Amino acid sequence: MRIVLVGPPGAGKGTQAALLAKTLSIPHVSTGDLFRANISQGTELGKLAKSIMDEGKLVPDEVTIAMVRDRLHQQDAENGFLLDGFPRNTAQAVALDGILKDFGIALDGVLDLEVPEDEVVRRIAGRRLCRNDSAHIFHVLYNPPKTEGVCDVCGGELYQRSDDSEETVRTRLEVYHTETEPIIEYYAKQGLVTTIPALGKVDEVTERAIAALRENAND
Ligand code: AP5
Ligand code: MG
Repeated sequence: MRIVLVGPPGAGKGTQAALLAKTLSIPHVSTGDLFRANISQGTELGKLAKSIMDEGKLVPDEVTIAMVRDRLHQQDAENGFLLDGFPRNTAQAVALDGILKDFGIALDGVLDLEVPEDEVVRRIAGRRLCRNDSAHIFHVLYNPPKTEGVCDVCGGELYQRSDDSEETVRTRLEVYHTETEPIIEYYAKQGLVTTIPALGKVDEVTERAIAALRENAND
C-alpha cells in the first residue's frame, strides 16, 4: 500500500505511522524524522533544516523533494510506504505525483487525522521523543514512560523537540492551515482522502485508520 498521512502538528501522525507501518509491513517515511536524523548527524542538510524547523517554517521544496525521491528509491519502499509529513504543500504533492508516475505507480489513499486545535496543543506540550529512534514517542500524561525520561522500548534518553515551544507551535499551525490543508482538497479531487477522528486512545485511532484504509482499498 502507498499511503499519505496528513494532519496538523501533534495530531498523532508519527504515533499512528509507527503502528500502521508495522501492521502493513511497509516503511514509515517521515520527512520530519529524516531532517532530525540529518541534524543529529551534523550533515549540510541538517544545518540548513535546523533553523527553519526551529522557526516552524517549511524547509525549501527542492531539498525536501530530492530527499523524498532518494528515500522512495530505496528497495524497502518498492512494495509500499507510509508517508508522514510529506507532501506538505501543493508543489510537493505535484512533485510526488511525478515521482510516482516515473515509477509507474500511484497512491492508494490519503488518511487525514482530524484533531481539534486545543488537543493538538496539549499533545505537543507533553510530547517526549527518544534520542535513539523518533518512532518511540511518549507523552508525559497520555502515554508516560515507565521511568521518567527513559524510553520504554530501548532505554534511550527522552527529550523535548526544540520546535515544540509555544511560539513555534503557533507558526507550525498557521503553516499547516495555509500551506498543507490545500493538499487535502487536491487529493479529495482524486477521490483519495478518508478523514478519521483522531481523538481517543491510540489503539482506537489505529483501528479506525486500518478500517478506513481497508474500506478505501475495496472501493
Ligand atoms: P514533523 O516532524 O513532520 O512535525 P509535524 O507535522 O508538526 O507533526 P508532529 O511530528 O509534531 O506531530 P505528529 O502528528 O507526528 O504527532 P505525534 O505522533 O508525535 O515536521 C517538523 C518540521 O520539519 C516542520 O515544521 C518543517 O520545518 C520540517 N518539515 C517536515 N516535513 C517537511 C516537508 N514535507 N516540507 C518542508 N518542511 C518539512 O503525537 C504528538 C503527541 O501526542 C505525542 O506525545 C503522542 O504520545 C501523543 N498522542 C498521539 N496520539 C495520541 C492519542 N490518540 N491520545 C493522546 N495522546 C496522543
Ligand atoms: Mg511526527
